[in-house]
Amino acid sequence: MEFFNTHISQKSIELVKSVLDSGWLSEGKLVKEFESELEKRLGLAKPVTVNSGTSALHLGLVLLGVGPGDEVILPAQTFVSTGLVILMQNATTVFADIDPLTGNISPSSIVEKITPRTKAIMPVHWGGYPCDMDEINAIASKHGIAVIEDAAHALGATYKSKPIGTISRFTAFSFQAIKHLTTGDGGALCCTNEEDTKEAIVRRWFGIDRANSRPSILGEREYDITGVGYKYHLNDLAAAVGLGNLADFPQRLARRQQIGAVYRQQLANVPGIELLRAADDRTHAYWLFTMLVERRENFIRKLAEHNVPASVVHLRIDHNSVFGGLHYELTGQAEFNARQVSIPVHENLSDVEVDAVVKLIRAGW
Ligand SMILES: Cc1ncc(COP(=O)(O)O)c(C=O)c1O
Repeated sequence: MEFFNTHISQKSIELVKSVLDSGWLSEGKLVKEFESELEKRLGLAKPVTVNSGTSALHLGLVLLGVGPGDEVILPAQTFVSTGLVILMQNATTVFADIDPLTGNISPSSIVEKITPRTKAIMPVHWGGYPCDMDEINAIASKHGIAVIEDAAHALGATYKSKPIGTISRFTAFSFQAIKHLTTGDGGALCCTNEEDTKEAIVRRWFGIDRANSRPSILGEREYDITGVGYKYHLNDLAAAVGLGNLADFPQRLARRQQIGAVYRQQLANVPGIELLRAADDRTHAYWLFTMLVERRENFIRKLAEHNVPASVVHLRIDHNSVFGGLHYELTGQAEFNARQVSIPVHENLSDVEVDAVVKLIRAGW
């Protein structure tokens, strides 16, 4: 059994072949089509595709003008890229605590961490379960700061009936190889404000405004770069993979949610397991099925003996030297870090396999 699956549909293979046959590999009409299909099918706010989730997060900080001396609040329960993009702008990472029953940043801890230098909050929807976005955005608007959601795990999740990717000023998605929608590597930045969307399109391609610059007779576009830009665009080859995979994304997401529901029901009263919270006002994208488990190493070992992989996926990132090498005093984070573990929840699992995972866990470890 695999812990993650990389889904490549037949349609993706056909589209990739057609891109290769066409000879146009760079950003072109498939990128445009992928963006408009993401918007149409998943209801995302004007997705601007880029070459990774990390690029999408970084672009959000660039558009906000985050720089030296600025502070950005984030949870330590994430992958290092959420913190590294802050350092790329020479700004300071400020780690807030999480709710140990979700793995998501705690709004009350955010309030404690705000200073006059705070420029942004970067909530991470751990495993695909949406953060408390109303509370977080209320704090942000009260203090005049922006929210950049790290939705690398949360494509397809909803909060109060709104798709993640339509709520805050910025939302970053990842289409990396093991994400539930992959382009090989890739990502998207969704902006709720039109000016940000336009600027994101310019900055993802060296800062050159392609829509308003025509090649002269000499053969190069006439342009004036007014701000630092990046080579962050997606290419048509990657967009072809994504477009093909988008067709059956709703069904694959529904299957993950179905497996998640079975686990929640079947594992609810197992001694040594505490399930995470699942509020009625949001839906989970189930990139991960994370639980709090006693004697975690024994649990992982027992499952491995039966070829069922289990993993913490990411442990807290704040101790890395690059972030100052400290374990911040974060009690919810410490509790989550000590007990969290995830089991396979991807759509390739058969009912027989899901049942086998449940039986194995219920038998104890
Ligand atoms: C929480 C989180 N944020 C950001 C990223 C970065 O995404 P990418 O690998 O597409 O750059 C990841 C990657 O796995 C992630 O798990």
